[in-house]
Amino acid sequence: MTAMTDGSSSSLPAVAPDALPLSRGLPLGERASAALEHPAVQVEVGSLHAYYGRHRVLRDVTFTARPNAVTAIIGPSGCGKSTLIRCLNRMHEVTPGARVEGEVRLDGSSIYAPGIDPVVIRQRIGMVFQRPNPFPTMSIFDNVVAGLKLAGIRDRQLLDEVAERSLQRAALWDEVRDKLKSPGGALSGGQQQRLCIARAIAVEPEVILMDEPASALDPISTLKIEELMDSLRASYTIVIVTHNMQQASRVSDQTAFLTVGDDGAGYLVEFDDTATIFTNPRQRLTEDYISGRFG
Ligand SMILES: Nc1ncnc2c1ncn2[C@@H]1O[C@H](COP(=O)(O)OP(=O)(O)OP(=O)(O)O)[C@@H](O)[C@H]1O
Ligand SMILES: [Mg+2]
Repeated sequence: MTAMTDGSSSSLPAVAPDALPLSRGLPLGERASAALEHPAVQVEVGSLHAYYGRHRVLRDVTFTARPNAVTAIIGPSGCGKSTLIRCLNRMHEVTPGARVEGEVRLDGSSIYAPGIDPVVIRQRIGMVFQRPNPFPTMSIFDNVVAGLKLAGIRDRQLLDEVAERSLQRAALWDEVRDKLKSPGGALSGGQQQRLCIARAIAVEPEVILMDEPASALDPISTLKIEELMDSLRASYTIVIVTHNMQQASRVSDQTAFLTVGDDGAGYLVEFDDTATIFTNPRQRLTEDYISGRFG
């Protein structure tokens, strides 16, 4: 298997880099100003391997995250869930010495093809992390529109519209509408996480990745995040990592179960509709994991 930038190694056919359109075919400003109905897109992962230096931590992972669906990635600690989700928007390669082989396709086009700008990919495929990470001293408003301002958008009316729309979609508007100038760091943990989701939504991504988005939150905030995932499904393709089996079975449509192989690399044991994984898995390993017998 050769490096991923050489599309020839992929099990999926190579495409010209210019076949990858800008997000929704519009520059960020126009995208943000059009209150678009989102055409959700699929994310295909093909024969993906991930490395930190010489250490392979993911082996031969293949699955497709369906549009307008929540795909959950589950598995024991260290099996490579965070690594996998970071490969989906080219965050993995930010770690020095980290690299990938294989293929990730967004709406049919390789995100790793030569000439593709990782910054554009990260706009199209947004990410929310385990610990809420708003800019703590920046206002709530400025947190939400940070990505747009970074892209040079200064139109106040547009920024106002995007901030309100994003906060509403993130189910936070009613709680913060009267204190948009307060610092993001002054919100509760659950509110901060919804602020981070609003920030991710503000740049109009097509896919939202969430790595254990509720694991640092109390049960009420967790429920809010789960309800939010359920409503965001109407507009986005969502991939989440979770350690919480009930959460995976409650919120997701499809589930990928990974575990660590004898070679120390994580691999995909089973991928299927969530109902099948949780009620009638094909693999004994999956059954043992979801029933709490290991991991
Ligand atoms: N920056 C890094 N440098 C080197 N190795 C790393 C790095 N990050 C993770 N790893 C290794 O990669 C493997 C997979 O880690 P990863 O964080 O993806 O697992 P995980 O499934 O998300 O675990 P957890 O459930 O504990 O979050 C582990 O063996 C880990 O030690
Ligand atoms: Mg992790």
